[in-house]
Amino acid sequence: MNPGTGAIRRGAPDVTGYRPTKGLLGRIWREFARPYRRRLAVFFVVLLAVSGLGVLPPVIFGRIIDHGVMAGNLDVVLWLGAAAGVVAVLSAVLGVAQRYLSASISERLIYDLRQRLYDHIQRMPLAFFTRTRCGALISRINNDVIGAQQAVTGQFGNVAADAVQLAVALGVMVSIEWRLTLALLVLLVAFAGVARRVARRLQALTREQMRHNAAMSDRMTERFNVSGALLVKLFGRPDEEAREFNDTAWRVADVSLRRAVISRTFFATLTMVGALGVALVYGVGGAMAVTGGAVTAGQIVTLSGLVMTAYQPLNRLSNAHVELLTALVSFERVFEVLDLPTGQAPHEGAVALQRPRGDLALERVRFAYPPASEVTLASLRRGDEQGGEPLPDLEHHVATPVLHDVTLSVPAGWTVALVGPSGSGKSTILSLVARLYDVDAGAVRLDGVDVRDLTPASLSAALAMVSQDPHLFHDTIAANLRYAAPQASDADLEAVCRAAHIHDLIAGLPQGYQTIVGERGYRLSGGEKQRLAIARVLLADPAVVLLDEATSHLDSESEAAVQAALAEALRGRTSLVIAHRLSTIMRADRIVVVADGRVVQQGTHDELVSAPGLYATLFRTQFGPGHAGLTTPAGRHPGSAAETANDPIP
Ligand SMILES: Nc1ncnc2c1ncn2[C@@H]1O[C@H](COP(=O)(O)OP(=O)(O)OP(=O)(O)O)[C@@H](O)[C@H]1O
Ligand SMILES: [Mg+2]
Repeated sequence: MNPGTGAIRRGAPDVTGYRPTKGLLGRIWREFARPYRRRLAVFFVVLLAVSGLGVLPPVIFGRIIDHGVMAGNLDVVLWLGAAAGVVAVLSAVLGVAQRYLSASISERLIYDLRQRLYDHIQRMPLAFFTRTRCGALISRINNDVIGAQQAVTGQFGNVAADAVQLAVALGVMVSIEWRLTLALLVLLVAFAGVARRVARRLQALTREQMRHNAAMSDRMTERFNVSGALLVKLFGRPDEEAREFNDTAWRVADVSLRRAVISRTFFATLTMVGALGVALVYGVGGAMAVTGGAVTAGQIVTLSGLVMTAYQPLNRLSNAHVELLTALVSFERVFEVLDLPTGQAPHEGAVALQRPRGDLALERVRFAYPPASEVTLASLRRGDEQGGEPLPDLEHHVATPVLHDVTLSVPAGWTVALVGPSGSGKSTILSLVARLYDVDAGAVRLDGVDVRDLTPASLSAALAMVSQDPHLFHDTIAANLRYAAPQASDADLEAVCRAAHIHDLIAGLPQGYQTIVGERGYRLSGGEKQRLAIARVLLADPAVVLLDEATSHLDSESEAAVQAALAEALRGRTSLVIAHRLSTIMRADRIVVVADGRVVQQGTHDELVSAPGLYATLFRTQFGPGHAGLTTPAGRHPGSAAETANDPIP
């Protein structure tokens, strides 16, 4: 390792003013280091041996000159020469052993940290993900884990080894000629101070460079993914896009240039100080040898060799506290994430619902989306984590209630339609039923049991949700379907896809069920994606289906197909549907009208449409005559409407 290179490690956080939390070291030991204590002990022994051996060669060479060459004693020359050879071989072998031990501990530690973080994060509530920057999270798993690992095998080990090497070297030097040693020490310490200042500057420049680099790559990721590219094509001004990019790229070039110069200065200083030390030994030591004879030629050789052996550890130690703190910061950031409550752990005595009937009820539910400060860490929701420009904190208000006193029930086997203006809280109601969030007051009950008292596994087995824009992983269609039921056979897949009216389309694709879909795969249309999502729900075979109907209007053909798929999916199940299509509304057993987070009307279509109120107004404006812009099956496609709206469901 070069002296002090740690000072310019990429991405090192600024540790000025940082104080490790109390008990941090104890916790690192207990949770991560203790399992490897034997290996760590061996590692330390080998490390100390290696640094002790580092001091030997200059001493041996000095003796060869004084007691062998000068004294004309061939035996001494040969024996000590052989000893130097043995030391060289031993150093090499122990060096490899040390590397093996440190790597085997580090890699296990990285593995432990990564898997614990991943497991913990995937169990976090949805609110956490809605408030967290994905990039910041990924950087925790990648960079901070490595930073933390360096604390255990890199920093603690190096500090110990450096201290030993420095002490032994200085001891030998003092025993040879203490005044010269003192002079050398003054020189080294003075210049170590200079080197440290240059290292600080370098660290600041590295951070700046990272920030600009992050800005540049952020921009490219945003612009070059499919949706971003589409937006630029439709609305973008290519010349301005290019100009803005050039600005960022120029800043990267500028700061990189400065960094290159400072970095060269840093290493030049280090080399120079070493060389100055050697010059001092030969100049002053040589003068002493010539005038007083207080120093021998061999001792000059030994001293000049030891200058380098002492100088490197001294230099590293002068920066060790920064390095150590940097590594500890990483540990602390890992712990910070591990300490976030996942919230969903089943409490003692949670009920596992065996055969859910599907009786759903909301009782006097009040709910506000939790503010970011409650669900995530400040550092994970701002941009400064990855070196991006810090963003203003968006969390300026206390949580405002989204639902007030909502009571509604869906008896087993019924279909209830939720209708209401945009932003009235319909999707929120579905999220509460699926327990993506917990209510602030009141309760959501399934078969009479509060969903908070159900085991998460039995709740997710009892219900399934189709969202407005269902997500597909970048994987085959078959794998995406099996996400709901890993054991499903090919015949099962085909059966549900037939029921969801999507089989013919899949069968027509060149790779059939093995076609890759998702972000970079085959692009399914909105309606096709919803039908695939419905097939996935059928595969899961839940008692309760939650459906957020797509607001976008589908063409008549896929409208009919989606309706038919829905009819299949909802048959014999309880369903709570956010309805945007007339056909869905018409076939519901009950309609619940939501406005401003309250239930304002309930009843069947016939009851509501003739009564004065929001429903009648909504119905007239959305589906009434003169609104040909909206796809109303009844208005524009009598054929398909008759087919779908008259399905005797449930
Ligand atoms: N994750 C969130 N954090 C904070 N507020 C949210 C969040 N999601 C929704 N809201 C707010 O809650 C209110 C209700 O939103 P919701 O999505 O339930 O409306 P909706 O009735 O489904 O509307 P639409 O018909 O447009 O889908 C809105 O004012 C919305 O801005
Ligand atoms: Mg919605």
